[in-house]
Amino acid sequence: MKVLVTGGGGYIGSHCVLALQERGYDVLVIDNLVYGHRDFLTDVLRVNWVQGDINDRALLAEIFTTYKISAVLHFAAYAYVGESVQFPAKYYRNNVGGSLTLLEAMVAHSVPYFIFSSTCATYGIPQVIPIPETHPQQPINPYGKSKLMVEEMLADFEQAYGIRSVIFRYFNAAGADPQARLGEDHNPETHLIPLVFYTALGKRSAISIYGKDYPTPDGTCIRDYIHVMDLATAHVLGLEYLLGGNPSAAFNLGNGNGFSVQQVIDCAQIVCGRQLKVIVTDRRPGDPPILVGSSERARAILGWQPRYCALEQILTDAWRWHQKRHG
Ligand SMILES: NC(=O)c1ccc[n+]([C@@H]2O[C@H](COP(=O)([O-])OP(=O)(O)OC[C@H]3O[C@@H](n4cnc5c(N)ncnc54)[C@H](O)[C@@H]3O)[C@@H](O)[C@H]2O)c1
Repeated sequence: MKVLVTGGGGYIGSHCVLALQERGYDVLVIDNLVYGHRDFLTDVLRVNWVQGDINDRALLAEIFTTYKISAVLHFAAYAYVGESVQFPAKYYRNNVGGSLTLLEAMVAHSVPYFIFSSTCATYGIPQVIPIPETHPQQPINPYGKSKLMVEEMLADFEQAYGIRSVIFRYFNAAGADPQARLGEDHNPETHLIPLVFYTALGKRSAISIYGKDYPTPDGTCIRDYIHVMDLATAHVLGLEYLLGGNPSAAFNLGNGNGFSVQQVIDCAQIVCGRQLKVIVTDRRPGDPPILVGSSERARAILGWQPRYCALEQILTDAWRWHQKRHG
C-alpha cells in the first residue's frame, strides 16, 4: 500500500515515515524543503520523494496520476506562532490554502483517507486541565486558526466527498529517534528543549525563562511534552484505524503529564552534565500557565500506548541527537 506523506523531510513527518517504513508501508514524500532536510530523506530514510510544493496543483495531479495513493498523511505547514501573528497571510496561504489544494487533488483522484497534523493551539486558553477533545476550540493566533479551519474543511469534505480523516492534535513534540538517526532541527528554533541543548553546546549564551510568576508550583509554565516516536506510532495506528473502516475522529496526542519549564531545564542539566546560564524575563503574551492534554481517547480507541513518557528519556534522546547533529 502506497501512502503520501507531505512534509516528510521535517521533524515529526520524518519520524512518521520511519515508523511507516518499519511497519511495511510504501511511502512517497512530498516536501519543498523550506524547512525539511534533504539528508533525512536521502541518507536516513532512503525514501521515494518529490521536491515540490503542496500548493502546486499540476504536481499533485501528476503524483496522484502516477502513483496509486491509498492515504495521505499531511504534516506540511508553517508552525511558528509568533510569525503567524506578524504575517497571517503566509499562514492562511500555506496551511489552509495548501491543505485545500491537497484535498481537492485527493477528491479528483478518489483518495479516501487523510491524516492531519493539528495542534493543541486550536483550543486557545484552556478552560479545563487536562484538555479533552471536546474542549471548545477558540484559537488565539492565526496559526491555531489556520489548523482549525482545516479541521472544519475536513468535516465538509467528508460530507460532500466521503474523505475520511483522523485529526491529531499534538501537544509539544519532543525527543528524537533513540538511535539518533533523526531529530529536531528547526531554523529558527523556538522550542524549549532544543534551545536548552543549543545552550549546552555553546551555540547560545543562555536559556530564557519567560515568566516565573505563574500560578504553578515553581512559577514557570507547564507543558505536555510528547515523544516524537510516540507520535509516530499514533500515526501508524491512526492510518490502520481508517483502513479498518472506522469513522473519522479527532485525537489529542500528549503525554498526559505536564512538566514545567524549570523542571525541563533542571533535568536537561543533569542529562547533559553541564550547568547552564538561565535568564528570567517577562511573560510572553498569550502563554497559558498550564497546557496539558488528555489522550485517553487515543488510548481507548486506537490502543495507543505512549512508551517514552519519562522526561529524562525524552531529554536523553534529544541530547544524543543534538550532540550528533550540532556537537
Ligand atoms: N512540533 C510541534 O510541537 C507541533 C505541535 C503541534 C502541531 N505540529 C504540526 O505538525 C506538523 C509538522 O511539524 P514539525 O515540527 O515537524 O515542522 P517542520 O517544519 O519540521 O516540518 C514541516 C515540513 O513541511 C514542509 N513544508 C512546509 N510547507 C510546505 C509546502 N507548502 N509544500 C511542501 N512541503 C512543505 C517543510 O519543508 C518541512 O519539512 C506541522 O503541520 C505542525 O503545524 C507540530
